[in-house]
Amino acid sequence: MPSHDLPFLRAARREPTPFTPIWLMRQAGRYLADYRAVRERFSFLELCKNPAAAADVTLQPIDRLGVDAAILFADILLIIEPLGVGLEFSRGEGPVIHRPVRTGADVAKLEPIDVEAAVPFVFETVQLARRGLGGRVPLIGFAGAPFTLASYVVEGGSSRDYLHTKRLMYDDPEAWHRLMEILATAVARYLNGQITAGVQAVQLFDSWVGTLSPDDYRAFVLPHTRAVIQALSPGVPVIHFGTGTAALLPDMRRAGGDVIGLDWRVELDRAWASVGHDVAVQGNLDPAVLLASPAIIRQHVKTILQRAGGRPGHIFNLGHGVLPQTPVDHVRALVDAVHELSSR
Ligand code: CP3
Repeated sequence: MPSHDLPFLRAARREPTPFTPIWLMRQAGRYLADYRAVRERFSFLELCKNPAAAADVTLQPIDRLGVDAAILFADILLIIEPLGVGLEFSRGEGPVIHRPVRTGADVAKLEPIDVEAAVPFVFETVQLARRGLGGRVPLIGFAGAPFTLASYVVEGGSSRDYLHTKRLMYDDPEAWHRLMEILATAVARYLNGQITAGVQAVQLFDSWVGTLSPDDYRAFVLPHTRAVIQALSPGVPVIHFGTGTAALLPDMRRAGGDVIGLDWRVELDRAWASVGHDVAVQGNLDPAVLLASPAIIRQHVKTILQRAGGRPGHIFNLGHGVLPQTPVDHVRALVDAVHELSSR
């Protein structure tokens, strides 16, 4: 099949497909024994920086699960390492940034990020993964959206309330916009580098933007996300994803993207109507459903497919990433159920 006609890419263009394509966020991760075996040999950052190993991990879920797209194995935080903020992935704690950027003076000290020098290994992983896939399924590249990256840089790690981030945003909007511009420029170059290297679609993860009010989203985030999406090489579908975004979806759509990613806190049909049927949608099974039995998983799949109503432009996914506790058999049951129940 010419790569252009692969079901995932057709759905992203809202063209009819023989079945609803499915891929999963974090489909290559700790719930897979193969992945855990690789992680015995490398730390997470070492793995990201080793193109041969990262490409292998990218391919692991393809044969195991039968998903319709591969996602590059990398991380949204790799491009912030050259800011000199002291990025570390500590076991159990997730990412830690030892020298967070909290004030206008901190922002003033930041240099633009030289993406090509910082992450050559990511672009090499893309080339190896494309070769390994041999055109079976498309390869999705990704980056963090400016807000979600800023939240890590300012908080110093994961957060519940984003208080440091919001304080900077409200108290020193000029510094905030400067920080967002630095990140937006780097993200656009990061994604265009992945596109040049061979990714066939890209996903922009604004995972934590749901912490903002719609007014704040429009004032402090939307222009920067829009700048990223407008700077991308044309012809490659862009998936624009966030969580907790029920109230933000129409504005996220305005910021851009060919596909809007939905989490499970919204009903797919109402959410699709709120962004407009002239854009594709991706989602939106609660990842926790995969802890239940295959029979229950099937029921949830049915509901989501009914809400999509057979309309072209639905890509099946979870509302967020696969949880590490998920049984692999349940993921396979999900993929099979989506293919079987949607085939036309
Ligand atoms: O299969 C895939 O989805 C591809 C790889 C991928 C990773 N990170 C690998 C990873 C992708 C798409 C990401 C994106 C990412 N990274 C996001 C956005 C997606 C989301 O979940 O909202 C975010 C917020 C990050 C930052 C990050 N990296 C966090 C918060 C963590 C810790 C997560 C945890 O559960 O421990 C990471 C580490 C990370 N990135 C892991 C993986 C497989 C776990 C690392 C490990 O222990 O092996």
